Amino acid sequence: MSSESRQTHFGEQTVPLDDKQGLVDDVFHSVARRYDLMNDLMSAGLHRAWKDALVTAVPPPQGETAFSLLDLAGGTGDVALRVADAGGAGTRVTVCDINADMLAVGAERAMKRGLDDRVTFEQGNAEELPYPDRSFDCATIAFGIRNVPRIDRALTQAYRVLKLGGHFLCLEFSSVDVPGLDAIYDYYSFHIIPRIGQAVAGDHEAYQYLVESIRKFPKPKAFARIIEQAGFRRVTFTQMTGGVVALHSGWKL
Ligand SMILES: C[S@@+](CC[C@H](N)C(=O)[O-])C[C@H]1O[C@@H](n2cnc3c(N)ncnc32)[C@H](O)[C@@H]1O
Repeated sequence: MSSESRQTHFGEQTVPLDDKQGLVDDVFHSVARRYDLMNDLMSAGLHRAWKDALVTAVPPPQGETAFSLLDLAGGTGDVALRVADAGGAGTRVTVCDINADMLAVGAERAMKRGLDDRVTFEQGNAEELPYPDRSFDCATIAFGIRNVPRIDRALTQAYRVLKLGGHFLCLEFSSVDVPGLDAIYDYYSFHIIPRIGQAVAGDHEAYQYLVESIRKFPKPKAFARIIEQAGFRRVTFTQMTGGVVALHSGWKL
């Protein structure tokens, strides 16, 4: 089947695969300036703990030891800045994101925090990474993979740019399986988050999409198999906060 005729999900809608990226880009252009504030409001600050767990799983070395990390779909640099803070002078982070507005917010943040010498922001598509093979020690992607139209391509590219022995870590919303919590989570997701999105970022639809895209994303066991199909070994995942998010890990061996 040609890619033109293939369909995919954009939230609840079914759209041609080739149209999804443009729609996703519109969402993040619209919310870029309010994105970090919205994360705090929507998750009641929990996204900080989830991202800290991701950084702990990396973990960047102390001191001068050279360590290069690629943060895919890294947006406003939230993960990248945490990695740079946690690591020593030898830790270098490249944020790669398709959206120039998200990157501009991130570059400003890095400058204000005095981390712009160790964190760089580059525009690129996770499906066609502009880096040579075996360039990075670690590749991370937080809350990004479900927005990429061709997830298999992004995973294959992450595998390609990792050095042998390199570590891949993916933090993504998952499926809540704690009785009682699932109903509360559903109500909060579908009724509260889009309203916060409207009030704070002036965009109800963008946050409706974000919530719906979470529901369409594969369950963690299925996603672990997709990661393995890209070539990664020793693939594991850990669920957090009753399954609200999962941290997946795989190695290029
Ligand atoms: C929910 S944000 C996550 C940002 C950041 N990782 C964080 O955790 O705060 C999703 C990001 O994925 C980016 N994105 C979507 N499709 C992409 C693609 N094909 N390649 C690279 N980045 C992409 C968006 O521009 C957006 O910045």
